Amino acid sequence: LGTLALVAAGGYLLGSIPFGVILTRAAGAGDVRQIGSGNIGATNVLRTGRKDLALATLLLDAGKGAAALLIARYLFNSDVAGAIAGGAAFLGHLFPVWLGFKGGKGVATFFGLLLAAAWPLGLLAAATWLVVAALFRISSLSALVASAASPVYALLPIAALALPTPMPITILAAFTAVLIWIRHADNIGRLLKGTEPRIGAKKA
Ligand code: G3P
Repeated sequence: LGTLALVAAGGYLLGSIPFGVILTRAAGAGDVRQIGSGNIGATNVLRTGRKDLALATLLLDAGKGAAALLIARYLFNSDVAGAIAGGAAFLGHLFPVWLGFKGGKGVATFFGLLLAAAWPLGLLAAATWLVVAALFRISSLSALVASAASPVYALLPIAALALPTPMPITILAAFTAVLIWIRHADNIGRLLKGTEPRIGAKKA
């Protein structure tokens, strides 16, 4: 149990690094929490007008989830350890101690986790995001569809045969998808009202 607590603490600390806040501040692009949706993720960093910072935020927020999962899985040679570290990193992104526990929505970290844990599932999830984004150009809608679809992809018999996903990873996908939906409550409200901004628009 002590080991699992250490794995979770390490994952949490890695996941709690708020790259969107750090990068926008370091670049003199202001505080991302004061603009657009107020979220610390890549979609909102894009609303500062800095595509480079948005891309870096996406890659680093995804990378920290992937790193937590891969390091724990390697050290303990176990998908359970990987899923615990990855889930803890996800919680670190949503509830970072450094920002008074007011963190992000977890979408980039979710993709990093899935790509590291079971890359075919991660690719399918990312493809789902891209297809929905190409159709509607709304980041939150793409995230909601891709996150909801991922545990289904992992469990559907035909997909499970083609892309076998270890059970701890399927549980991780379901756990993170539920939290992504909860964190998008405001976005869901705007989507239902038809006021959710399109990707690249400056205002939320
Ligand atoms: O990754 C979060 C995205 O799905 C929505 O971001 O800033 O539009 O609330 P935002």
